[in-house]
This record gives sequence, structure tokens and C-alpha cells, in this order.
Amino acid sequence: MSKALEGIKIIDFTHVQSGPSCTQLLAWLGADVIKIERVGDGDGTRKQLCDIANADSLYFTMLNHNKRAMTLNTKTPEGLDILNRLIGHCDVLVENFAPGALDRMGVTWEHIHALNPRMILASVKGFGPGRYQACKAYENVAQCAGGAASTTGFEYGAPMVTGAQIGDSGSGLHLALGIVSALFQRHATGRGQKVSVSMQDSVLNLCRVKLRDQQRLERTGVLEEYPQFIGGEFNDTVPRAGNASGGGQPGGMLKCKGWETDPNAYIYFLIQAAAWPSICKVIGENSWIDNDDFNVPAARLPKLNMIFKRIEQWTMTKTKYEAMELLNQYDIPCSPVLSMKEIINDESLRASGSIVDVDHPVRGKYTTVGMPVKMSANTVDITASPLQGEHTHHILHELGFNDRAIALLRNKGVI
Ligand code: COA
Repeated sequence: MSKALEGIKIIDFTHVQSGPSCTQLLAWLGADVIKIERVGDGDGTRKQLCDIANADSLYFTMLNHNKRAMTLNTKTPEGLDILNRLIGHCDVLVENFAPGALDRMGVTWEHIHALNPRMILASVKGFGPGRYQACKAYENVAQCAGGAASTTGFEYGAPMVTGAQIGDSGSGLHLALGIVSALFQRHATGRGQKVSVSMQDSVLNLCRVKLRDQQRLERTGVLEEYPQFIGGEFNDTVPRAGNASGGGQPGGMLKCKGWETDPNAYIYFLIQAAAWPSICKVIGENSWIDNDDFNVPAARLPKLNMIFKRIEQWTMTKTKYEAMELLNQYDIPCSPVLSMKEIINDESLRASGSIVDVDHPVRGKYTTVGMPVKMSANTVDITASPLQGEHTHHILHELGFNDRAIALLRNKGVI
């Protein structure tokens, strides 16, 4: 079976998470992704958060599957010459260096475009043009700058970052969309273009409901679905909403059987308006179904704390799985809070390829997250991440270097 991006060659000049998460997706779609790393150190994540001595870390392996890897010192004339040859030979160059690093290397957009007018240059930076454009960035920097931290956490607590890597992998996803679109547009124009994504913008895009709420708050002075609506106060910015639902259906995090000892014995429960009669039946409050004090969302809003407490009396009599099963018989939207331990063993996630085991030549078998986008004509076999410099020789051969020339480059520390 052919792959969606078969034939597309990508120079993967990325490191850490944001860039690698993008190029890994493109590799899973069938592109030939050539990861270029510094001689010696390589991608810093190879040796970060190590759990097995002398083996690439899970941090690295889980972001660099299905790629080829070469080492290259692009700050030598010979290294720069090889990079230039690759630019002539490939379709896309993806990078997430600090602002200005690629230019300082002599690889400006003008240079790339002159060498290969069909090439797409795709970059992730912490910030877009403006006062922070020269700043370096990591995940939580972006979560703070993109509006996630100020709107996450509990009512009276400090701003909070989320475990989902919306700044890094979120930027990778946005960049992948830009690259695929630029490849599509190239069919019509014959020319490449520059695709830029800032981590701040990516987080902001994922936080757009909070920008919606900022404007609602400015107009009306209240946000009815926020916990502050019941007995609290609003000021002039969107507050932290705890576990309240971000949408129009009130939601709550409710204890289930075993919560005293299991920190994840919880279920997230939504009071979807259409499901109100079913909710009342399940928890044994049939009198609430037609009662004017309860039967419309506006009547329930001021009593939400009491209603969730009553529902929780019911959920505490069930395990989170029993509750999920019973509630779904009535089409009541909810989810058990799943731990990573539960997710790693989840049969459905394994059957669908969303959780997969991979064999690595040094570290052996480990588990990773598979391709989240399922396509009927694009199956994905997840292969191990490359060892540092594993394909340097092969790739230089493809560029026309013979063994003697390659040995010379190695002696000079270029590769
Ligand atoms: N050969 C020679 N030099 C190389 C090289 C290679 N193959 N690969 C990288 N380098 C050089 C760079 O040119 C740069 O040199 P310079 O500072 O002299 O210009 C140097 O290595 C360091 O690169 P840099 O990107 O600045 O790394 P850093 O460790 O200082 O910063 C980040 C790391 C992540 C903070 C920074 O890259 C960044 O802000 N990136 C953009 C946002 C981003 O993606 N953040 C990470 C999200 S996971």
C-alpha cells in the first residue's frame, strides 16, 4: 500500500519536542525524514531523563520513530556544503532552533529559496514577530504566554500548567498542517514557501474558548458555568475554572468507589441538558425531572454544587468503570479518570494502534503512543528511532560521496 507522503524528502533539523513531534507525524505518513544532529552531543534529549544506561532515553525514542539519522557539523565549510546538497535534494526543511540560529549558520530563507525554489522551510519558534521574538522557549513558557496557565488551576490557587504538551506537540501539529498544505499548494505554483508557527500562537489557538469567555465576561460581568458564579466573585479577567466544563454543559469531577486510597478513582460527569431526565432516574431523584426548580439548565445553575454532591453520592457506590458503563446505557456523557498505568494496558487503545510496543536495538521493548490520525489507505508501522548517526554513511552515498570521501569527512569531525 502506498503512503500519503511517499516520495517526500524532509530534512529534519529539529530537536527537543516541538519540531520532532511534527516530523515524526510526517514520517508516519510516509515521508523520508532525515534527522540531522550535531556531531558529539546530538539531540540533547537522547541523554535526558535516561532510564537505561547508555541507551537513548524514552524522551528521544518516543519522538523520533520512523526517521533516518545523520550527524553533521554544519558550522564547517564541508558540513554546510552537505547541508546545501540536501537542500537541493529534499522537499522540506523543518527546524526549531533558537531565533536567528539558522541565519547565523548562513542558511537564510533567501539562500534556501535560491538553491531550491520548490523547498518549503518550516520553523517553530517560541514567539511570533513582536517584543518576544528573540526569546527562547520551552513548553511551560508557551503555556504561560498563550493563556493556558492563567486560566488553568483552582479558584484561589496559583496559575497552573497542564501535563498535555500543548506548547510543544501542539506546535508540532500546527506545523505539520502548514507543511502538508504548502506541499499541496506547491502542486499549483511549483514553488515552496516559508511556514512559521509560534508556540505562543499554538497554545492560544487551543485556548480560544478562554478568549471567548474573556469577551463574554467583559459584556455581562459573569460567567455562569464557572465555579465563581455560585457565591464567588469575578474581576475583569477570565478566572481559573477548576474542573468546571469549558462548554455550555456543566461538568464536575466526582469521587467513585475506592477514592480514599486510589487517587484516580474519579469520573468526570457532564450534566448535558438533554440527559437530565436520565440523570435523575439513575441517581433516584425522579421528582427532579418535572420540578420547575430543576428541570431547565437556568434553574439548575445556582444549585450545581448541591446537584453534583447528590450525583456523587451515587458515583461513590460504583467503581469508575461501573459508573461509566451504567451512565452510557443512558447516553450520559462521562469518562473515568484513567491513569497512565491503565492507559498503557488498555486493550482498545492497543487494538487500534494508539498504544504500541516497539523493539529498539539497544533498549529493547518499550511502549509508545501510535499515530493518532487513522487513515483507511495509510497504515502506519511504527519502527524504532534511529541511533545517533546510524544512516550518515547511507545518506552521504545517496548524495554521491564515496567511501574514501566519507572517511575523510569523519576524520575531520564533519560527520
Ligand atoms: N551543527 C553545528 N551547529 C549546530 C547544529 C549542527 N548540526 N545543530 C545545532 N547547532 C547549533 C545552532 O546553530 C546554535 O548555534 P548558535 O547559538 O551559535 O547560533 C546552537 O547549536 C544551539 O542551538 P539552539 O537552538 O540555540 O539550542 P539551545 O539549547 O541553546 O536552545 C531551545 C534550545 C529549545 C530553547 C531553542 O532551540 C528554542 O527556543 N527553539 C525554538 C522553540 C522551541 O522549539 N522550543 C523547544 C520546544 S520542545
